[in-house]
Amino acid sequence: MISDADPQKIVVARRGSPLLIGVGVGEYLVASDASAVLAHTRSVVYLDEGDVAVLTPEGYRVLGRDARPQDRLVDDLDWDLDTLALGSHAHFMLKEICEQPETVGHTLRGRLVGVDGTARLNGLNLSPGHCARIRRIVIVGCGTSWHAGLVGRCILEELTGIPVEVEYASEYRYRRQLRVPGTLTVAISQSGETADTLEAIRAARAAGSMVVGLVNVVGSTIAREADGGIYLHAGPEIGVASTKAFTSQIVALLLLGLHLGRRREQLDVEDGQRLVAALRSLPDLVARTLQLEPQLRELARQYADARNALYLGRGVNFPVALEGALKLKEISYIHAEGYPAAEMKHGPIALIDEHMPVVFLAPKDQVYAKTLSNMQEVKARGGHIIAITTEGNGDLRHLADHEVRVPACPPLLSAVLTVIPLQLLAYHIAVQRGCDVDRPRNLAKSVTVE
Ligand code: F6R
Repeated sequence: MISDADPQKIVVARRGSPLLIGVGVGEYLVASDASAVLAHTRSVVYLDEGDVAVLTPEGYRVLGRDARPQDRLVDDLDWDLDTLALGSHAHFMLKEICEQPETVGHTLRGRLVGVDGTARLNGLNLSPGHCARIRRIVIVGCGTSWHAGLVGRCILEELTGIPVEVEYASEYRYRRQLRVPGTLTVAISQSGETADTLEAIRAARAAGSMVVGLVNVVGSTIAREADGGIYLHAGPEIGVASTKAFTSQIVALLLLGLHLGRRREQLDVEDGQRLVAALRSLPDLVARTLQLEPQLRELARQYADARNALYLGRGVNFPVALEGALKLKEISYIHAEGYPAAEMKHGPIALIDEHMPVVFLAPKDQVYAKTLSNMQEVKARGGHIIAITTEGNGDLRHLADHEVRVPACPPLLSAVLTVIPLQLLAYHIAVQRGCDVDRPRNLAKSVTVE
């Protein structure tokens, strides 16, 4: 607000949506997102809900809900300005897909401890006592972040032995919260501003749970309200469809699993060291997976006119199927569904005919043979099969119309690789169909309303 009586004074207030002040040289900037001020300054002051700030040429003052002056910290943005430019890429989504070898590396950087086979997560703020007392983990998130949570359930149960529940934040917040001692709530959010996820953590805290955030945007509301957390350090994600944040969320969940698994002695040193070594090799494997792009571009040409698509997977790759279907529908407007592969025979199999492309997630893992028999069921009904499988796996040409092979890696890590062909497929189909890839209709990057 600018008052006529004093046009040198600007008054801003935070209510509902995020708000920050950029502190420049001889200027102040007000924005809802740090990326908007990055070209002018790296120093930002995040306002809390209910804060009012008064800006004049002499400086700024922040008043809290009670109208008393507040000291709000000036944060330094560590984002690189280049991340806000398209460079040689046609769209931010493609740029962000291609950045994944680096962004996965940034999520891991400085956190792996080879000798102890563990992860150092200083920001988590969980003492050894806290870690020992955890009896139940509840993961909350929305959309792509919820899919990462489903992958996280497999990872955390496997590495820590703790039972995990995964909840849509929007559903969880309106249910009765049971006070279960020893509950740790894990909120996953790229933006750190999603209204439903924010309210879910408030509800969890009111029921006595500790809350940790897996968040990308430093200083965002969820990051500040959580008791601790793991920043993704994936850099700003501009494309509305989330890509690099998803792979970094899975890597952060692997780090959390490694840390808790070692602290609780569910994972011995040797197993921890093996996982550390596998995580260290992940950025290179992501880079190799990106070399599949020409194949996915060609597949997109063949399937750009599809009206429906089915994505099927099992275990950690069931949520990848959901994520592949979400990517396709949100940017290309093709109706797509993700399903656990074995559930298909309980209904969706009725949809399969010669017009239905079916994307199978079939990496080499403990359910590989079962997935092949699900593929057989689709083939017998004339569906077109695109199989995302692993290099060195047997020949699938007798079953699949197309084979896309990602590098081999331990099954628990495979979602980081298998999702990349699905991101590229959705991207190239949307481009073929002339869609506005970075700004799909009806969608916003941060959903700050419920
Ligand atoms: C899909 C997508 C959304 C977000 C969801 C949660 O590509 O981006 O489904 O994942 O709105 O957003 P965050 O992670 O910011 O809480």
